[in-house]
Amino acid sequence: MSGRAGGERDRSPGGAADEPVRADEARARADGGSNPPVRRLDDWNAARLRTLADEYDTPLYVLDLDRVRANYRRMRAAFPDAEICYAAKANAHADVLATLAEEDASVECASAGELRRALAAGVPADRTHYTAVNPPARDLDDAVEVATARDGLTVTAGAADTIDRLADRGYEGRFCLRVNPGVGAGHHEKVRTGADAKFGVPADRAVETLAEAADRGFDVVGVHAHVGSGVSGDQLAAHREFVSRVGAIAREATEAVGSLEFVDVGGGFGVPYREDESPIDLEAVAAATREALGEVDARLVIEPGRYLVADAGVLLTAANTVKEAPETTVVGVDAGMTTLLRPAMYDAHHAIRPLAPDAADREAVPQTITGPICESADVFCEDRGLPRIARGERLAIGNAGAYGYEMASTYNSRPRPASVTLVGGEARPARRRESVADVTRLEVRREGEDDRTDGDVAGTGGNRDRGSMPADPEVGE
Ligand SMILES: Cc1ncc(COP(=O)(O)O)c(C=O)c1O
Repeated sequence: MSGRAGGERDRSPGGAADEPVRADEARARADGGSNPPVRRLDDWNAARLRTLADEYDTPLYVLDLDRVRANYRRMRAAFPDAEICYAAKANAHADVLATLAEEDASVECASAGELRRALAAGVPADRTHYTAVNPPARDLDDAVEVATARDGLTVTAGAADTIDRLADRGYEGRFCLRVNPGVGAGHHEKVRTGADAKFGVPADRAVETLAEAADRGFDVVGVHAHVGSGVSGDQLAAHREFVSRVGAIAREATEAVGSLEFVDVGGGFGVPYREDESPIDLEAVAAATREALGEVDARLVIEPGRYLVADAGVLLTAANTVKEAPETTVVGVDAGMTTLLRPAMYDAHHAIRPLAPDAADREAVPQTITGPICESADVFCEDRGLPRIARGERLAIGNAGAYGYEMASTYNSRPRPASVTLVGGEARPARRRESVADVTRLEVRREGEDDRTDGDVAGTGGNRDRGSMPADPEVGE
């Protein structure tokens, strides 16, 4: 099997807390402190990641808030006049929301829960957008309560009867209509929303629906659509077509209701999950967006999610089983589809890298990396050429900052992992590791049944196996 062994650039022995997070920091400084459009898994300092894995155990999400900021600033530079509305669903941790609020981001919330989290993290109400997709009654109640208590929330509805339900609740606030322009794009069929009937009012009914909302007393401020998620540079033509249809609807809508404050063309800005994939050309996407939108007397709104957070995060995990099967070598790790769902859900590719200092010197062999969940979908990669992995060894999984922890679950009664955030290179705990007691906490106890967990098993993979960790020649473990 050909393939480059997982590129260990970092040769430093210790990985102390004050080591730079990025192995390529010197290179970036030489570039005049530029803001590279992509951070690859190899750009992370392996020694530092090993230290974090030692200190906080695995599985562990690590999110670098400085990189989130840098990604935001790059997007701000490409879209200087747009409202950048971060899609909280990609990563709704308070540290992320607060960091982006400190920049000038707005936040797009897919649920009342995200809305509450955004407000609690300090996002001003007039920079929150609540996008109601078939909203449960409790969600609508909550959003209307927020809108009543704090001026400025924009509610986006994608069905005429959601408008009725808002009116039933006495809502008369800022209103935006989600439309379905009939063009979708994205990295997987499951995320191409732009033409999916579930999302938005069909294009041919959009203007009359907006006019009706205005007649009923709603403060109509915008039109919204979202093409899909993870749109690559190759899909620029679909992006153009999508935006141009949204632009046409916005022009008609402006005539029908007098004026619009904004046109929201959603998110979907792709990131290179594969190591040989190029980052999207943000300037080209921005130019194409402006051109395709055409003349519209309204502010442009964009809703990036993964672009801002994906490459700011890695997932650290440890190998617990190495099995030679006739077809392949199976490496079992302590993270699984309950920790990072994307590979199982979307067949998504994530770079994987053993963190040992000698990894790059080892022979690359095909290995299948799987989790501990009792499902055959619980696979991170199949037959991938990686340096031969030993039991106990720690690995990093790249681009895990978006749709990672957010999609984690406790299936198989696997507690969810811990998280740390990095600020100025310094690590701070961001979320404690769940325990089995956390998983069962909401079960209703009957009399005399106090504890069903038989002790508190902390997290997954907590590491009695450390004793079997192979000697790390340079660290001398
Ligand atoms: C309405 C809406 N906006 C923005 C996004 C963000 O997409 P991405 O993370 O690909 O930028 C999504 C993702 O599902 C979405 O549904």
